[in-house]
Amino acid sequence: MIERLTDLVEDFAESAERARDELEPVPRVQQIGKIVSVGDAVAHVEGLRNVAADEIIELPGRLMGIASSVREEELGLILLGDAGDLSVGAPARRTGRVVDVPVGEAFLGRVVDALGRPLDGEPPPRVRGRHPIERSAPAIMDRAPVATPLQTGIKSVDSAIPIGRGQRELILGDRQTGKTTIALEAILNQHDTGVVSIYCAIGQRASAVARVVDTLRRHGALERTVVVVASGEDAPGLQFIAPYAATTIAEHFMHRGQDALIVYDDLTRHARAYRELSLLLRRPPGREAFPGDIFFIHARLLERATHLADERGGGSLTALPIIETQAQNVSAYIPTNLISITDGQIYVSPELFRAGMIPAIDIGNSVSRVGGDAQLPAYRAVVGDLKLAYAQFEELEAFSRFGSRLDEDTRQQLERGRRVREVLKQDEHDLVPVIEQIAVLFAATTGLLDQVDVSDIGKAEAVIRRRARDELDGLAKRVAEGARIDDDAREALTNTAKAALESHDLI
Ligand SMILES: Nc1ncnc2c1ncn2[C@@H]1O[C@H](COP(=O)(O)OP(=O)(O)OP(=O)(O)O)[C@@H](O)[C@H]1O
Ligand SMILES: [Mg+2]
Repeated sequence: MIERLTDLVEDFAESAERARDELEPVPRVQQIGKIVSVGDAVAHVEGLRNVAADEIIELPGRLMGIASSVREEELGLILLGDAGDLSVGAPARRTGRVVDVPVGEAFLGRVVDALGRPLDGEPPPRVRGRHPIERSAPAIMDRAPVATPLQTGIKSVDSAIPIGRGQRELILGDRQTGKTTIALEAILNQHDTGVVSIYCAIGQRASAVARVVDTLRRHGALERTVVVVASGEDAPGLQFIAPYAATTIAEHFMHRGQDALIVYDDLTRHARAYRELSLLLRRPPGREAFPGDIFFIHARLLERATHLADERGGGSLTALPIIETQAQNVSAYIPTNLISITDGQIYVSPELFRAGMIPAIDIGNSVSRVGGDAQLPAYRAVVGDLKLAYAQFEELEAFSRFGSRLDEDTRQQLERGRRVREVLKQDEHDLVPVIEQIAVLFAATTGLLDQVDVSDIGKAEAVIRRRARDELDGLAKRVAEGARIDDDAREALTNTAKAALESHDLI
């Protein structure tokens, strides 16, 4: 309510200002400088004084530049578009403004560029106001702890690496390991939660972005998603500002008291765009030739994701930044930075992917630092020490390859581990509702699947899920409301799984 009033007041103030500008013929002093050098992504300007950091400089052809490195004589501009026929000597005008983007609910279902301009051939969305793309993060006093789960529909994530609304969880791994798919599943799974999503594509091929948009549309998710695109073919300046602009568009929802989810796909390419700009602006390069402030660039972006206190409307912004590693090197500069900025990471492994263990989430190397507090209590009882048991299993399995004779206990642990691993596999876009996750993981971890052939586990899972869906409606509702798994619930889960397996001759 307060937010909406503030919006209105801001809208009003803005139009009043505009009206006054138009009515009063006051002489305006304009500072105009001239371009002294121009490259593909940056330009240098002379003759402008007292320019503020990040101020927009207007150039011919409706091109904008961001004042970036302010030195006495010469001003370095990051160009927000193609340099085109911009030439030396062309005028450059101060605006006194910083880069802003339009925001509003009408952005849902739309594909826009880093300045909020439509890319989908539709007319511009109805705007609720404009806000700077750089905004300070909410103060500590205005934040609340993460308390509500953000279900992804992915069994291994929701059980072992749970994410809470307002959390920042990094997704990292080599190329083609399923990173984008994990983030997309999280968006698709919000079909009945009211969470709105923002997918920000940075530096990708246009065809890859088109595929994502198509997936969102086919699953009916586009209408509750905003897609912000700065593709690899766009100016590095646009790639650099895209995540900030997308965050501003997302914050509009958070400040209205809604829950929003933002995916940055990916920040490796964002860092590269910034590195290119910094080198062209002749800033001193640091580690891996990245500029010294690259850490700060990402930290101040992700600081904006949070869960707001009730007095601030209680909205939230969950961030899923994606990072591409090279040859699984998580200790390179950008990955280590992001790992330290976020509240945990989902690590996807090319080895698991090649072995057909898909999603290729390496549970042992993944962590969620705040999501556990928000996880539905039912998971704790059912999954218990899944993570630990699974780690032990992997170790045992590596060991047993040496052909040593195994005692009965070890053999059984191995057999169960194999089945748990099968159960954690999941087809693309086959999102699993909470009660079905719990029914299946319960069956696997309590040994109900021990007698089922490993090759039949997929089938066993399907029949348990179906029966859970049909018969455990009451329990599903209680679990969603935060109920624990008590003895009655255990009995219900056991009976459901057994009946499902028996009726299909699987045990
Ligand atoms: N759970 C899954 N089941 C089956 N196939 C999957 C699954 N997850 C991902 N894939 C497939 O794996 C391939 C790579 O997935 P995705 O594009 O998500 O990976 P990525 O790590 O984002 O790749 P890139 O490095 O190109 O961005 C795609 O063809 C996708 O369809
Ligand atoms: Mg990807």
